[in-house]
Amino acid sequence: MDWGMQNRISRIIPRETGRAVMLAVDHGYFQGPTTGLERPGETVAPLLPYADSLMLTRGVLRQCVDATNRIPIVLRVTGGTSILSELSNEDLTVSMEDAVRLNVSAVAISIFVGSVNERQTLVNLAKLVDEGEKVGMPVLAVTAVGREMTRDARYLGLCCRIAAELGARIVKTYYCDDFEEVVNGCPVPVVIAGGKKIDERAALELADNAISRGAVGVDMGRNIFQSANPVGMIRAVKQVVQDRKSPTEAFCLL
Ligand code: R5P
Repeated sequence: MDWGMQNRISRIIPRETGRAVMLAVDHGYFQGPTTGLERPGETVAPLLPYADSLMLTRGVLRQCVDATNRIPIVLRVTGGTSILSELSNEDLTVSMEDAVRLNVSAVAISIFVGSVNERQTLVNLAKLVDEGEKVGMPVLAVTAVGREMTRDARYLGLCCRIAAELGARIVKTYYCDDFEEVVNGCPVPVVIAGGKKIDERAALELADNAISRGAVGVDMGRNIFQSANPVGMIRAVKQVVQDRKSPTEAFCLL
């Protein structure tokens, strides 16, 4: 692996622990002003000291995050759809040139395996990997799940493996029963999304279970910024993921 690629991946997954707390705030790219993210800059600012990286879109990065900030950025580079349309019909929305100009540490793309737009999103992934490899930019593939799909190890394992085969350097997916099967079948690091807001204690257990079963980290959004105590929650998540405190110990922080 070339130096630039390795360096960027190590910003996302710090070598000290080999684990990562990623803060995801890219929801607006298809959901609009998501609860808790109406003013993303204000939401994100107090959370940044506790995140290893920040996942967001180009527009919010430029307008809401100070350019002197040193937080590694994972830039979402797909979109073109909204909650009012067919979500799987995504395309690439940011050039690799602009991603480099923004000095990001990785680019993120969703794939929709099993959807009507499966092929389009997988070919987009392959093209993005081609562009990324030229400049040492890792691609993080997000395995998006349509309403009609079951979030089980068989389906998520299929999605993650395909993402890795097409060249993704990191894969983001959902936690499920038998999660170790998903990780075992995926030759690149796996992080989990948090999903819809759930009880804080349950979210900490979700993170702990994912790490115990082989995930390298979490890329969590709503369960942090929609918490009544977002700073306490991201600190607790960090204790679970990075310090390997138990969910019970970390929950006491809240
Ligand atoms: C979804 O496509 C986005 O990439 C979100 O960033 C992702 O789902 C993580 O956020 P949450 O923890 O809220 O599910």
